[in-house]
Amino acid sequence: MMARRTLIAGNWKMNGSVSSLDFFDAIAPAARNSPADILICPPSILLHQAARACVGSSIRVGGQDCHTNQSGAHTGDVSAAMLREAGASHVIVGHSERRADHGETDALVRAKAEAALEAGLVPVICVGETREEREAGRATEVVSSQLAGSLPENAGGLSLVIAYEPVWAIGTGLTASVEDVATMHAAIRQSLPDPLTTCILYGGSVKPDNAAELLSLDDVDGALVGGASLKSIDFTAIIATVSRKSEPLR
Ligand code: PGA
Repeated sequence: MMARRTLIAGNWKMNGSVSSLDFFDAIAPAARNSPADILICPPSILLHQAARACVGSSIRVGGQDCHTNQSGAHTGDVSAAMLREAGASHVIVGHSERRADHGETDALVRAKAEAALEAGLVPVICVGETREEREAGRATEVVSSQLAGSLPENAGGLSLVIAYEPVWAIGTGLTASVEDVATMHAAIRQSLPDPLTTCILYGGSVKPDNAAELLSLDDVDGALVGGASLKSIDFTAIIATVSRKSEPLR
């Protein structure tokens, strides 16, 4: 059985430009020396150039969303096959900003994850509760239900990644307590068909000063980083906090 590996993923959201692609040169030494896999998800318009900027390095690139179909009359959308052709290895699906801004349901997220798998991409499937849901004591129930509805059937292990991102922690500077993260990640792992091989990321205001503590938790296999992935100095510092939990494949 192949062991799951640490993954440090950056989600640039709707940020970045052609001139910011020197980011990849800046983080390349840290990525090369890290036992973790490093993934950057820029806006799809930058993906092809980002993939070219990564040639010869160990950094991978991914999309931030994909359509459920691989082609067709869907103005403004991008398919998983297109992301793959542009050089992506992964695609984020079901990010809370997509769920909130575009009304994405669990069923739609599942269909997108299936489209990603069909195109040969690893879907990074995001789940997480709102502040109201946590305060009502419903965090675990909400996340379990999102997982049940969003995960493709018969898929697991190394073919997909889960990202637990409490909505109230995204972009706010607030992070869940290590106890809450540990509890939630353990609950998520128990509910997965392939618990031992599935990588579970934590996301929500991960920064250089809190990454080491979060990543030291047994069931935290990496981080999905928004704001702190926009500055190479911060992202490099987060990469540097990864301890040698897993051996590199390369
Ligand atoms: P943040 O974003 O690190 O800026 O909180 C995380 C995410 O939305 O993936």
